[in-house]
Amino acid sequence: MGYNILVTEPIPESNIKTLEKIGELTIGLQGQFLSEETLIQVIPKYDALLCMLSTPVSRKVLEAGSKLKIVANFAVGYNNIDLSAARELGIHVANTPDVLTESCGDFTMGLLLATTRRFNKAETYLREGHFKQWEPLGFLGMELSGKTLGIVGMGRIGQAFARRAKAFGMHILYHNRSPIDPSLIPDLDARYVSSLEDLASRSDVLSLHCPLHPSTHHLIDEKILGLMPNHAILLNISRGPVVDEAALAEALHNNTIGGAGIDVYEHEPRVHPRLLTAPNTTLLPHIASATHETREAIGALAAEAIVGILQQKPTSQISNLLTKDIGFESSSKLSGE
Ligand code: GLV
Repeated sequence: MGYNILVTEPIPESNIKTLEKIGELTIGLQGQFLSEETLIQVIPKYDALLCMLSTPVSRKVLEAGSKLKIVANFAVGYNNIDLSAARELGIHVANTPDVLTESCGDFTMGLLLATTRRFNKAETYLREGHFKQWEPLGFLGMELSGKTLGIVGMGRIGQAFARRAKAFGMHILYHNRSPIDPSLIPDLDARYVSSLEDLASRSDVLSLHCPLHPSTHHLIDEKILGLMPNHAILLNISRGPVVDEAALAEALHNNTIGGAGIDVYEHEPRVHPRLLTAPNTTLLPHIASATHETREAIGALAAEAIVGILQQKPTSQISNLLTKDIGFESSSKLSGE
């Protein structure tokens, strides 16, 4: 019956039900990585692909997808998909904006608190039986009130985090492709800083929310890390390759920055061994959007885009389509997700 749809990993049941109404589903196994070679072999039989942010949807995969009409990413970031190749080949691409903004804002705030207040280290200390008495000088961290937060990529998620940080008494600076009309972010009282170097040297916390793009690869390198104050914290919930992970590990080991909260990795799922042993570092396995509500909403957006395209709904009515105007190349660069 209907269409053949490949879903690379199990997704919420309600999303499966949406797709089952229009086609036959093949669902991959949880945690199973589909290589480019495997995808090239299997893709010819599918009309639609619902994939993960780790699925390499390269030009070769798209070219092999002779029946493929849409690739829907179960993520807002889509650097794993060759969007220009998809456009050239007339294959639609969808991502999942908006629905993960608040969960990612919450998460980044938690990551910041966990890092500045040393939650992991303190909890391990307790669990290992070292908590014998209250200590006036134990586990001291950095207070947030009055500190400066520098946001790199002031899109939806950057703004959601900035709103939370503002409520904690932080001052907000940001660096973006271009300044945002202050009337669009009136509650933030945020100031635009045109140079990343300047932002890095003025921020107590530097938080990355920009998409991965050739122009943002290793945006945070040895030089930028060297400009950060010694006590400053780096947060990354964007994409791993935005940071030169080896340089970050060195900065942490040499105490030239104060700490880091990291959710994404340059060679995910591998983590640089020097980062694993770095001090004052919170390392999490890419879980910023991991709430029941958000993951269900992500799946709903992806599934609805597939249904819309396969049922030939006007593309203007599919809000999360990146290819409404196939043939047009956008440039998102630094504006955050
Ligand atoms: C997660 O990283 C996403 O892009 O949705």
